[in-house]
Amino acid sequence: MDAARPANPADQANPADPTRPPDPVSRWESWAEGERQVDGWEWEYVGYDPREERLREALCTLSNGYFATRGAAPETAAGPAHYPGTYVAGLYNRLTSSLAGRRLPHEEVVNLPNWLPLRFRVHPEDGEVGDWFTPDQHPDGLLRYHQQLDLRRGVLTRELRLRDPRGHHLNVSQSRLVSMADPHLAALRTEFSAEGWSGSIEVESAIDGLVGNTGVARYRDLASHHLTRMGTGAEEPDVVWLSCRTSTSDVRVVLAARTSATPAGPPEAVRNRLSDYHAAQRLRLPIAPGRPVAVEKVVALHTSRDTVIAGPLPAALERVRTAPDFAGLLDEHTAAWARLWRRADLQVPGEAGHVLRVHMFHLLQTLSPHSADLDVGVPARGLHGEAYRGHVFWDELFVLPYLNLHFPELSRALMGYRHRRLPAALRAAAAAGREGAMYPWQSGSDGGEETPEVHLNPRSGRWLPDNSRLQHHVGSAVAYNVWRYGQATGDTEFTHTRGAEMLTQIARFWAALAEYDQDTERYRIRGVVGPDEYHEGYPDARHAGLDDNAYTNVMASWTLARAAELVRTMPASRRTELADVIGLIDGEPERWDEVSRRLRVPFHQGVISQFDGYGELAELDWDRYRRRYGDIRRLDRLLESEGDSVNRYQASKQADVLMLGYLLTPGELTEQFARMGYELTEEQWRATVDYYLRRTSHGSTLSGVVHAWVLARARHQDAWEHVKEALASDVADVQGGTTAEGIHLGAMAGTLDLVQRGLTGLRSEGGALWLDPSPLPQLQEFGFSLRHRGVGLRLRMRPGQLWAGVPPWEESTVRLVLADRMVEVAPGQETTLRLPD
Ligand code: BGC
Repeated sequence: MDAARPANPADQANPADPTRPPDPVSRWESWAEGERQVDGWEWEYVGYDPREERLREALCTLSNGYFATRGAAPETAAGPAHYPGTYVAGLYNRLTSSLAGRRLPHEEVVNLPNWLPLRFRVHPEDGEVGDWFTPDQHPDGLLRYHQQLDLRRGVLTRELRLRDPRGHHLNVSQSRLVSMADPHLAALRTEFSAEGWSGSIEVESAIDGLVGNTGVARYRDLASHHLTRMGTGAEEPDVVWLSCRTSTSDVRVVLAARTSATPAGPPEAVRNRLSDYHAAQRLRLPIAPGRPVAVEKVVALHTSRDTVIAGPLPAALERVRTAPDFAGLLDEHTAAWARLWRRADLQVPGEAGHVLRVHMFHLLQTLSPHSADLDVGVPARGLHGEAYRGHVFWDELFVLPYLNLHFPELSRALMGYRHRRLPAALRAAAAAGREGAMYPWQSGSDGGEETPEVHLNPRSGRWLPDNSRLQHHVGSAVAYNVWRYGQATGDTEFTHTRGAEMLTQIARFWAALAEYDQDTERYRIRGVVGPDEYHEGYPDARHAGLDDNAYTNVMASWTLARAAELVRTMPASRRTELADVIGLIDGEPERWDEVSRRLRVPFHQGVISQFDGYGELAELDWDRYRRRYGDIRRLDRLLESEGDSVNRYQASKQADVLMLGYLLTPGELTEQFARMGYELTEEQWRATVDYYLRRTSHGSTLSGVVHAWVLARARHQDAWEHVKEALASDVADVQGGTTAEGIHLGAMAGTLDLVQRGLTGLRSEGGALWLDPSPLPQLQEFGFSLRHRGVGLRLRMRPGQLWAGVPPWEESTVRLVLADRMVEVAPGQETTLRLPD
């Protein structure tokens, strides 16, 4: 509270009108409803384009946090244009491949049997039976193809109008959902109507076990068949099922499908077709103009890891038998989504608002309240595809700070994923001869290091060593989230126990890794890789790794300081417990404090050096490369394919030093440098921003988010370009083909947080909400709801104004602090604060 002046009476929150009775609760509810009425709840694709199909499948994925299914057409199988994929969160399997003369193990999220298949063909009375329809056959007969994702309700709809080669017209309207109400259920409803002909329609509804992990072309040389012991069965009258096991993680997976028609055909028109890998039901249904037919497929999915089940097969059969029909499922599902949207309301006008809603949709369905019951982390590419094998990187750094202010219980559960893997991180550090916790760069099931040893440069066709596992800064991301979560929620029950265990063990790791150097009289951290993954080592060096990566050192120092502070300030009884659990020795927090103050940050030409020696690397002729290649986001691959190496140049893939301005507010950044014994002036920071801006290729979608955030403060007029880039990341697939392999969850959540915290300067400290708004000229009006330390509130920015309101049903007052004033807003009150120019 130090910087805040006493409350300005003019700014005191006032009840809306003291002469009238207090605002009725309904006013607040309708206010919230009204805010949600704005446009932008549909995401649409008109027409069929096989080249776009995989991208659309990723962006039309439906999920409930437990399982996800890509938005593939149910008549299609995996092939160049289509890639149906179903993934259960956190369900991995390990295989070994023979590659480049070595045996390489890898673990990945498993593509499970496909529950979507539903194909159809017509039997006109006046002609021969038609072919099974697929959008790729008879493109001339595809008169209408329209896909629409209803973001509010989580429903994907397809509208088709078809003409077969003999001129019979058929309309198909198909909707699907993956239930947000019951995480084990999904449903597909298809309505057929004949135009100008009669006869019957034959429908085959199936579960297909002939699947593998073949969604990413770069991985095609790796083993990809994860499922064994496949078997199928049927339960009269309308259920078929398929059961299988993952080959090494040994998880049993069962899918059961119930297919019914309205009006139902004659009983003899239904036939089951079962093989080891395929469980299908065929129905032949009379159809005529004005007499449409609807086929509903309800699917249940269970695995042997589920709780409260007698076994996955009986559970799936019971669930699918007792599940409501599509309309009933839709009602429950819509209500569950309405509850989510209420907690994550974000109002941004225009196209930006539309894209942000798409981002929110994918965030909420990847990490939903159902995820909180599972042992899952934040998968970098959502549950939307197989890129990065479903692994967990440092991307939670871009996700949890957003979730903290809406779904704190989810943040806590996601940190639980890290805490359960703390023993693995301790073992990894010990095996490397270090102390504390060394979290893996890529994490999967058991917390071991999952980063592959080699990766393919698709441009040169060469398999190259992958040293990204030296990105030990991932530990600071875990520590950062523990701290920010504690600030946003006040949940000391977590922060003083599991949170403190992680924070202190990560601090320990940094303290052990830092070596004192007599020459510089500083601690140094050598042999690491920073967030800019281009640089893995010094040019021509025999060993990988760089020294004194500024981001790593500053965040290590920050982590050490927070750990020492937490141990110092926590209640004595908790401290004793913690000391016991982690084996804290006398003087250890003091040593953390001391290392934190003496870690080295290199500088050159008046700017922070990305790492020691960065300033001595060659300058790249950016214009020449842009002219030659156009898109140079993956400069590392271009240079390698030319026989050169990006290690030689001052060229970064993504924000590295600038990450500091993303994670720390300007005040925190100055203070952090001062603690380390450096003066970082505003001019120096601006010069640093300019320096790296000219030397960054934005080869990661995270880069746009960080640059937008940092420039919103340091170079206002240039920020919008990066906001646009960050918003376009997935919907326009700016990295050229990567979104089809899975969305970029960090960038999606990062854009939401950019509005929420970046442009408002919102942070939680000392139980108050601090604000330091910096709206962009292009984005001056927006509003959102949030939950801070158990109290819900709404904020709205307008040019020159900030409005804040606490609904009457809340129980506590919220304290808002701006640079020059402090305001308290009680339940049922609202306040409008004028902002300085
Ligand atoms: C980025 C990393 C990120 C990973 C997963 C990489 O391309 O460079 O920073 O963690 O993707 O999203």
